[in-house]
Amino acid sequence: MEHLVNSKVKQIELSGIRKFFNLVADYEDVISLTIGQPDFPTPEHVKVAGMKAIDENFTTYTHNAGLIELREAASQFVNKKYGLTYSPNNEIITTVGASQAIDCAFRTILETGSEVILPSPVYPGYEPLIKLAGGTPVYVDTTKTDFKLTAELLAPYITEKTRCIVLPYPSNPTGVTLTDVELSGIADLVRGKDIFVLSDEIYSELVYEGTHHSIAKHIWEQTIVINGLSKSHSMTGWRVGFVFAPEAIAKHLLKVHQYNVSCATSISQKAALEALTIGMDDANAMKHSYQERLDYVYDRLIRMRFDVVKPNGAFYLFPNISQFKQSSFDFALSLVKNAGVALVPGSAFSEYGEGYVRLSYAYSMDQLKIAMDRMENYVTNLS
Ligand SMILES: Cc1ncc(COP(=O)(O)O)c(C=O)c1O
Repeated sequence: MEHLVNSKVKQIELSGIRKFFNLVADYEDVISLTIGQPDFPTPEHVKVAGMKAIDENFTTYTHNAGLIELREAASQFVNKKYGLTYSPNNEIITTVGASQAIDCAFRTILETGSEVILPSPVYPGYEPLIKLAGGTPVYVDTTKTDFKLTAELLAPYITEKTRCIVLPYPSNPTGVTLTDVELSGIADLVRGKDIFVLSDEIYSELVYEGTHHSIAKHIWEQTIVINGLSKSHSMTGWRVGFVFAPEAIAKHLLKVHQYNVSCATSISQKAALEALTIGMDDANAMKHSYQERLDYVYDRLIRMRFDVVKPNGAFYLFPNISQFKQSSFDFALSLVKNAGVALVPGSAFSEYGEGYVRLSYAYSMDQLKIAMDRMENYVTNLS
């Protein structure tokens, strides 16, 4: 019966990150720096709020857009932290992680043949969802601008068919962030055109120098902001995300969301409420730790003579490996086999990631030290 499976579904593939993670699982004594999720437990008070919700039988459907108290908390959070204004009544939807928010957004705004611009190398979660929604991904090479999308780079890619530009900063896989001035340049180019900006800000709480800025401040009517608690509060498994969009868009998004999942998990919503109120600054302690690890791993990579951009956010480094004259897949596989360290081949992040590998430093300092020693040994012998 497989021939009857939807052709668009047949064409998409499992994410290269997962594929590599699974492949590595067969090797012994490998330090895997492949997965992009915080290594901290969910803050204790947030877990308690979740347990309390179960104890109190808070286990039924909620409003499709999520608990009003949670939307109010989310509204205040993005207002206080990033200066954004969204009404909790009709401009915020609680989703099942940022992933479901992204899917709903694409399905709400794309038509068959709509082009979606992706600054690349890019998180592999967008392309399949764009294709399932009938759209066409258009990749922009950011490798010559330190992985930053600029108005200049973007301009030639805008066509009659462009319906959306994805702005995923702080970036997975590069950790790079955009300044307010850089965002304003992009906003000036897009303002007034029939184009949405899908601003994926899931790493907004993990910006090291300065603070996070959202393009929504510049082109609010055209922007759909995606955020969530997976990275800020180490809550990947709780599956709580948000879409922030002007009411005219949000009311349509809510229909897609409603028929997709009804609502986010009630228990997780209670935990999320705690996280966004009492735990508003919970990310700070984790961020401090990530920054120490970033400094450490970056210095080690530089000493190994890797060409690597020092990022300002998220928890990834994206070193160039072209000096080893191997594909990123071969390099990563050989590193697993010969050095016992797993990194994700850059090719998992579009063709523009070829020649790089992604290293997640959301691992303990002990693991990072061993991994760096092993890598140093390996690359010294290679060159
Ligand atoms: C850029 C980006 N967006 C979205 C997601 C998905 O987040 P969630 O776990 O909240 O669905 C990830 C997860 O790694 C990500 O890196």
